[in-house]
Amino acid sequence: MSLKELENNIEHWENCISQATSFKELDNLKADIFGKSGILSAAFKEITNIATEEKKAFGEKLNYIKQQLDNAILNQKNKLKDYLIAEKLKNEAEDINLPIPENAFGGLHLITQSIRRIKAHYSARGFLILDGPEIETEFFNFDALNMPKYHPARQSHDTFYLEGVQGHLLRTHTSNVQIRSMMLDRGKSIRMLSIGKTYRNDSLDATHSPMFHQMEGLVVDQKPINIGHLSSELKKLMAFFFEVENVEIRLRPSFFPFTEPSMEVDCKCIIKDGKLIISEHGNKWIELGGAGMVHPNVFKACKIEQPAYGFAFGVGLDRLVMLKNGIQDIRNLFDTDTRWLKYYAC
Ligand code: DAH
Repeated sequence: MSLKELENNIEHWENCISQATSFKELDNLKADIFGKSGILSAAFKEITNIATEEKKAFGEKLNYIKQQLDNAILNQKNKLKDYLIAEKLKNEAEDINLPIPENAFGGLHLITQSIRRIKAHYSARGFLILDGPEIETEFFNFDALNMPKYHPARQSHDTFYLEGVQGHLLRTHTSNVQIRSMMLDRGKSIRMLSIGKTYRNDSLDATHSPMFHQMEGLVVDQKPINIGHLSSELKKLMAFFFEVENVEIRLRPSFFPFTEPSMEVDCKCIIKDGKLIISEHGNKWIELGGAGMVHPNVFKACKIEQPAYGFAFGVGLDRLVMLKNGIQDIRNLFDTDTRWLKYYAC
């Protein structure tokens, strides 16, 4: 299609877009317009036959059309989204006038149960259970964790930044609480545990959710602490969480900006009838979290008196809960399907 034809047809394409009734239809239109053999590419090819002095104007016109069609698609996508949500709400509306069945008692969600169980265990072992804000500043979430602005490691955290509040974000991990506890408890020894919600701009699928839970441990002292202490703590954590007498763990070298050395924590396991069982007699390894010795730059950022020693660990709680319960899809945890919720509630 030539530019001229394209210009004459733009209304036609805009109409097609605004009449699309499904995302699939929109995607097809997008391919017809923007795809490799779409109408825009065809028009772009024309540029080779155009006099040099007209090339600029040609390009501008084409880009203008491209922008227009792009906007039309975006508009329609938003409209469809609103429409589908409205439809869903209409179809799934609960009739709140119905009497509540007598046995409809509430229960605790599996994640809540796990959080409470972990907090009780660590509290009994003398750890401080600390909370941190979910809306955090770049300082606590990144800078103080040895991830200054433009540090490449920041890019691996797909961060939700707050609009209109400079330097604020939804925390991407619970490591912010490490910093907060060190800054508040400066110079003292620390044994703390923090569990809570964390956020990353991931699209929802079986293993990712934009909101998930992490658990963070930190031990700091003026007396030397080494990887042996960390390893023993991680073993205790896994044995406790999976309710087994003994676990075998493996520490693999890895990288986190806030620890040096850093490691990935694997646990020995068996896969039996498709189900994973943590066992020291296992023949496979499963990765369960990250850990390491606190980086000197982190101590420096928190103005902790030297000498100081410490280790930290961080695990994804949802993943642990899923592994323990044989749950395959993280979305189940955050759905509101009461049949599913009831099965695990207590
Ligand atoms: N903050 C890390 C993450 O979200 C997890 C983590 C790794 C925490 C190692 C730690 C650690 O405290 O030592 O990916």
